[in-house]
Amino acid sequence: MIAAAFGCDGLDPAVVLAAFGLDGPATSMTAVGGAWSNRVFRLEANGGVFAVKQMRNPWRIPRWEKWLAEAWAFELCGIEAGIAAPQPVANPVTGGCLAWVRLGGTQPVPVRVHRWVSGIPLGAGVVDLQIARWAGQALATMHGLQVRPLDRSLFPLPNTDNADRWPELTKAAYRSGADWAGLMAAAGPSVSVIAELVKSDGHRPGEEVMSHGDVDQKNIVATRRGPVLCDWDVAHPVVPRRELADVAMSMGCWRDIGVAREVVRAYRAHGGDDAQIAPTDLGQPMMSGVDWIAMNADRALGQWPASAAEVAQARSLLPGLLAALPGEVASALRITALLRI
Ligand SMILES: Nc1ncnc2c1ncn2[C@@H]1O[C@H](COP(=O)(O)OP(=O)(O)O)[C@@H](O)[C@H]1O
Ligand SMILES: [Mg+2]
Repeated sequence: MIAAAFGCDGLDPAVVLAAFGLDGPATSMTAVGGAWSNRVFRLEANGGVFAVKQMRNPWRIPRWEKWLAEAWAFELCGIEAGIAAPQPVANPVTGGCLAWVRLGGTQPVPVRVHRWVSGIPLGAGVVDLQIARWAGQALATMHGLQVRPLDRSLFPLPNTDNADRWPELTKAAYRSGADWAGLMAAAGPSVSVIAELVKSDGHRPGEEVMSHGDVDQKNIVATRRGPVLCDWDVAHPVVPRRELADVAMSMGCWRDIGVAREVVRAYRAHGGDDAQIAPTDLGQPMMSGVDWIAMNADRALGQWPASAAEVAQARSLLPGLLAALPGEVASALRITALLRI
């Protein structure tokens, strides 16, 4: 059956199945919501169900395939260590995670495949305590592996680039008449505080270990057998305390401190480091949030290549992301007391 019949913008399921050595025929292939950066499809074929992801390198990361190879190696380590994750399907020819498949008549595009996990993706809200404990344990397990990247230079260093260009971005928002321009201006002082936190803690290469790097509600599927962690593609070196602080606060949506503490408690109960968490630990994670806001601002202002859907998504996300920043910074500055157990 041709891809157009499945409505998958040229991605032909038969070609995908062949590239991964899987048996057909495909009986359905449907786009999955909740993919922020890439295009994800649910593919049914010959009794099997798969998640097919077309990789898009939305951050335009140089040497992203090498980064992905390190992330893939870490994904396998994480699964081996017992973290519940979708079972990946390797490219049978290369043993790597990617296969390049032709999209219609155009250039080949990179695709990954996993077994589909049957469950319900978590919503964006505060997680329950059981998920909070699971997240703390998963982080402790990943950090405990002490995996170092083969090539640290593939991954970004802590930086304040988007904080530095915030005034210019704010002006561009005003010039274009964006209704969120005022929120950009109001968020300016918070962005400056975040930049100061990043600079004062700097780069700590000696403390870094590989981790998933995006443990967040959007990448967790609740199944009958417990939570499953998807989307290991941006695994990268982290300072464990920083990732712990970030995940703890994110699981509680920065307002439910009981949930955040439960993440930390479980982390420590499973052998995670018990060093006190300081405001500076949230500098780098919060700067990643600023990077995400800046990317959306660039998309909304036409300064970054984006589809019409991405521009619409950027416009709808920006007001909420910007309005949340001051409160998050206020919590970050009190984090030692908030997360003290
Ligand atoms: N193997 C899988 N089984 C079930 N659902 C999946 C699977 N892989 C991805 N998903 C769903 O698709 C969504 C998007 O996939 P993800 O890998 O997170 O894409 P992106 O890189 O764009 O964030 C996930 O949030 C999850 O809900
Ligand atoms: Mg994801």
